[in-house]
Amino acid sequence: MIEPFDKMIYVTRPVFPTIEEVTDKLRDIWAAKWLTNNGPQHMMLERELKTFLKVPHLSLFNNGTIALIVACQSLRLSGQVITTPFTFAATPHVLSWNNIEPIFCDVDKETMNLDADKIESMITPKTTAILPVHVFGIPCDVDKIQEVADRYGLRVVYDAAHTFGVEIDGRGIGTFGDISMLSFHATKLYHTVEGGALVMKSEHTKQRIDLLKNFGIKNEEEVVMPGINGKLDEVRAAIGRIMLNYVEGERLKRKRLHEVYNEELAEVEGLKLMPKVADNVKLNYQYYVVRIEEETFGRSRDYVYGAFKNFNVYTRKYFHPLCSDYTCYRHLSSSSPANLPVANVIAKQVLSLPMYGDLTEDDVRKICAILKSFRS
Ligand SMILES: Cc1ncc(COP(=O)(O)O)c(C=O)c1O
Repeated sequence: MIEPFDKMIYVTRPVFPTIEEVTDKLRDIWAAKWLTNNGPQHMMLERELKTFLKVPHLSLFNNGTIALIVACQSLRLSGQVITTPFTFAATPHVLSWNNIEPIFCDVDKETMNLDADKIESMITPKTTAILPVHVFGIPCDVDKIQEVADRYGLRVVYDAAHTFGVEIDGRGIGTFGDISMLSFHATKLYHTVEGGALVMKSEHTKQRIDLLKNFGIKNEEEVVMPGINGKLDEVRAAIGRIMLNYVEGERLKRKRLHEVYNEELAEVEGLKLMPKVADNVKLNYQYYVVRIEEETFGRSRDYVYGAFKNFNVYTRKYFHPLCSDYTCYRHLSSSSPANLPVANVIAKQVLSLPMYGDLTEDDVRKICAILKSFRS
């Protein structure tokens, strides 16, 4: 008989800097008397992130969603953009906000990312770009996606919200495609409370993006494009600078917890664990996700999700429902389940388990024991 946890175990918990570190930085901001609009903290964080992420150009934003809206604007995307239904709501919504039709393409059954082999069949004369997501921090098949894009003259914009610090062959994940978006939301491995960034290849694109995120204001006399307010303020930029000191420690704690999950769950029939990646990929271990195959496990994902609550464990059905099942998208022809057989299976199986550095190895072993006890 396993006792419930005597505390609530959430799916994630934000990493907090010490209050002293924040107070020190606030003193700097107060002394500079500069709260937003490209202040010193903002400039320093952009520089520090470029180095940390091994990317040539980066522009900070007040959140990842606005950043992605601006990415589409900056490349003047229109018509249709091919994306995945197995993602967070923001991904297709930014297309809608740009008057672009999201075209949902099925996902790979192992990585859960956009299936690069199926993209070509979704291309029409209206297609202008591909918007893949590195789901749960596992890189997409970046080479194959680029190859298809090049063959058809399409842009590639990555939703890299889950991929802070991920590298392929020592190369920052943000350097693939035309533009990548990062989210610095409080629940991410690295955060600025709310915030985000775009990573781009050229100084020219950065200049355009910097204008777009500041209302299109070039100088006191000229407003050159219909921009938006996408700016990150000094307080959150300063917190972001502090959080850079925490990210590797948090990553290593989560790496260890991943290992414990993998050890404990490896032999459980009916559970499919996180996909394996090639040795040249550096992961960030932000999430730990399992897939519950009802026929062999004997219980459905929804049963497990509900039963965990009796033990004070709060998991998440992440991502469920599929974006193609949202009321605002289900009328699209690409949303038909016949077009998305793999995504429809995965969305019914997937469960995000607790993953954050403050969990102990014993907590994880107990979560695994509870999960195993549900098998029937
Ligand atoms: C895959 C994905 N895309 C986009 C977003 C949106 O980012 P933000 O919350 O910073 O706007 C998130 C998460 O928040 C996400 O998980």
